[in-house]
Amino acid sequence: MIILAVETSCDETAIALVETKRNNSSNFKILSNIISSQVKIHAKYGGVHPFLAQREHQKNLPLVLKKALKEAKFASDQTKIDLIAVTMGPGLEPCLWKGINFAKDLAKKFNLPLVPINHIEAHFFANWLAPAKLEPKKVFPAIFLLVSGGHTQLILAKNFENYRILGETRDDAAGECFDKVARILGLGYPGGPAIENEASRLKISNLQFQIKLPRPMLHQKNYDFSFSGLKTAVLYHFKRQSPKTQKSKDYIGEMAKEIQQAVIDVLIKKTFFAAQNYKIKTITLGGGVASNKELRKQFKEKIKEEKNKVKLLIPPPKYCTDNAVMVGIAGFFRFSKDKKKMKKKIEAKANLKISSGL
Ligand code: KG4
Ligand code: ZN
Repeated sequence: MIILAVETSCDETAIALVETKRNNSSNFKILSNIISSQVKIHAKYGGVHPFLAQREHQKNLPLVLKKALKEAKFASDQTKIDLIAVTMGPGLEPCLWKGINFAKDLAKKFNLPLVPINHIEAHFFANWLAPAKLEPKKVFPAIFLLVSGGHTQLILAKNFENYRILGETRDDAAGECFDKVARILGLGYPGGPAIENEASRLKISNLQFQIKLPRPMLHQKNYDFSFSGLKTAVLYHFKRQSPKTQKSKDYIGEMAKEIQQAVIDVLIKKTFFAAQNYKIKTITLGGGVASNKELRKQFKEKIKEEKNKVKLLIPPPKYCTDNAVMVGIAGFFRFSKDKKKMKKKIEAKANLKISSGL
């Protein structure tokens, strides 16, 4: 089965072609994966500008489709595709509509079923690309930590389409926190990769400033997060420094390392707390922040330390950030499970929750 997937929920225009054998639901072949990023356009605003983003999607979608078909060596009037999947939410509504309308036109043109996908569920399904391939039945029940620019959620995935949000951020998402802190430190947008880069330059033995940030909600016995206070703590610390220190590579590096560690500490603690309290088989990660090397390393160390039977799945870094491959995989599972749902009216839902179904 070949799925064409479309993703436009934020600032990446993405189309992918994914192939899977109908009965082998754990093995996906990526025929093409095209992402047109708008990062440069939004960088000057320090975040995504919805109007500009939807205009770019409109412009990019036909070009991205052409590239995706070419990369997969498909003709433009091809007949090999079996299904079209498109993100319907959550995300920026004008952006979602661009992808949905584009996918609807394609479905009509090729006379194919169209399946709506929840973007958060798609991030979860990116775990089917993790190197340690698992049979779906060995994955569930799972804890899914979604850490992106718009969301930080701990989700109990009991089975396909059976999700419960255990907790989430009460204010900023982890990625948003990195983006805001990077802005304070003058590191540009998106902040996560810039913070990772600055932090990795620094050796622990060279620390001069001894910065200690709080770990918000670390000891609270719940699954919620709060990252906005962390950003404020960085801002106050930064403001107390001399202009020379504020610009110094060492200060910026140390602050980047500490903010990265503060976020990682909280994410690991809460995720393993959830893993202990629910009888689960796997911990899965997803979302842009899950591409952070230090976070991946520390999750792997922690799982080894635990010595229990819980497995850890993390998608390869490039499938943690927004892409259409994950939408295609989610599309396969949704279509296989319930073909009737395909007839439903598809519309953009900016605040769609993973637990509410579609
Ligand atoms: O999942 P994603 O691509 O888009 C959303 O659905 O939000 O996540 C984007 C977020 C941004 O906030 C970005 O700063 C963060 O993920 N991010 C990272 C890294 N790469 C992207 N955060 C930390 N380390 C990274 N390497
Ligand atoms: Zn995302």
